[in-house]
This record gives sequence, structure tokens and C-alpha cells, in this order.
Amino acid sequence: MLGLVWLIYQSIHKRKLHIFGVLLCYTKARGRNIAFLSNIAVASQYRRRGVGSALMRELSDFYRPQKDIESIELNVQITNSIAIKFYLEHSFKIKEIRDLGYTMEYRLHSESQSFRRFSFFYSNP
Ligand SMILES: CC(C)(COP(=O)(O)OP(=O)(O)OC[C@H]1O[C@@H](n2cnc3c(N)ncnc32)[C@H](O)[C@@H]1OP(=O)(O)O)[C@@H](O)C(=O)NCCC(=O)NCCS
Repeated sequence: MLGLVWLIYQSIHKRKLHIFGVLLCYTKARGRNIAFLSNIAVASQYRRRGVGSALMRELSDFYRPQKDIESIELNVQITNSIAIKFYLEHSFKIKEIRDLGYTMEYRLHSESQSFRRFSFFYSNP
């Protein structure tokens, strides 16, 4: 089974929809019991305000009750120091060193791991 989670952080201002953060995650990628976070991005003018963290928190809350999903994994380029810091800040650990980057993982059912809480709203279309 291949599942897909889109999380969108958005607001409505002057009757216009503004999307300022997105996260895309595939479930049970490659037949393994993992969720693969393929992308997260926050519009540049909204960065450093907790939007990315809110998306990560929501992702973790979505998968934690699903006991068959053991971890969230992602690939990040070695040059993307901001993203690496962001993931480390959210309790991801380096699992594997690849040519141009790292595979990082977050163990969902480890008691010692939890994402920081932020207030947020999102739409899950
Ligand atoms: C990585 C990204 C999603 C973070 O989103 P964000 O909304 O800015 O993140 P947050 O505001 O929730 O930051 C949480 C923590 O991450 C770290 N962090 C985030 N941006 C940082 C920066 N520019 N410099 C240093 N640390 C940073 C900080 O520890 C921060 O906590 P603090 O603000 O209390 O110090 C965003 O920078 C982005 O969209 N980058 C471009 C796309 C990208 O590289 N995606 C990852 C692909 S693998």
C-alpha cells in the first residue's frame, strides 16, 4: 500500500488563499514500514516563525497512532545546513551517509522523542 500525506499551512487574507508551507510524505515507501518525507518547504518570507515545526508536529501526530509505521525517513543534501539543523532540532538522527547527503530518521514510538509544540492551523485537502 502506498499512502500520501499532504499538509498545507495556509491563511486567507483579503479573500485570497495564501499557502506558505507544504509537506509531502509517502507512507510505506518501498514496501517498508516507514513514512518517507519527500519534501517540506516554507515560503521564504514566513520562515523562522514555527511554520515548518508545526508541519512536522502534525506529521508526527498523524503517524504516531499507526503502529505499523515505525519511523519517518528523509534524504537531505549535505550542503543544506539549515534543513539539517532543523531536522536535528526535531529529533531526527543521521541513519546513513550517502554520496551527497544524509538519510535521516525519526523513530515514532521512541518515548524519548517528541516534536516541539507550536500553535497552528492547516488544511488537509
Ligand atoms: C527547512 C525549513 C522547512 C524550516 O522551516 P521554518 O518554518 O523556517 O522552521 P521553524 O521556524 O519551525 O524553525 C525551527 C527550528 O529550526 C532551526 N532553523 C530553521 N531555520 C533556520 C535558519 N535559517 N538558521 C538556523 N536554524 C534554523 C532553528 O533551530 C529553529 O528554531 P528557532 O527559530 O527557535 O531557533 C525552511 O527553511 C525551508 O523551507 N527551507 C527550504 C526548503 C528545504 O530546504 N527543505 C528541506 C529539503 S530536505
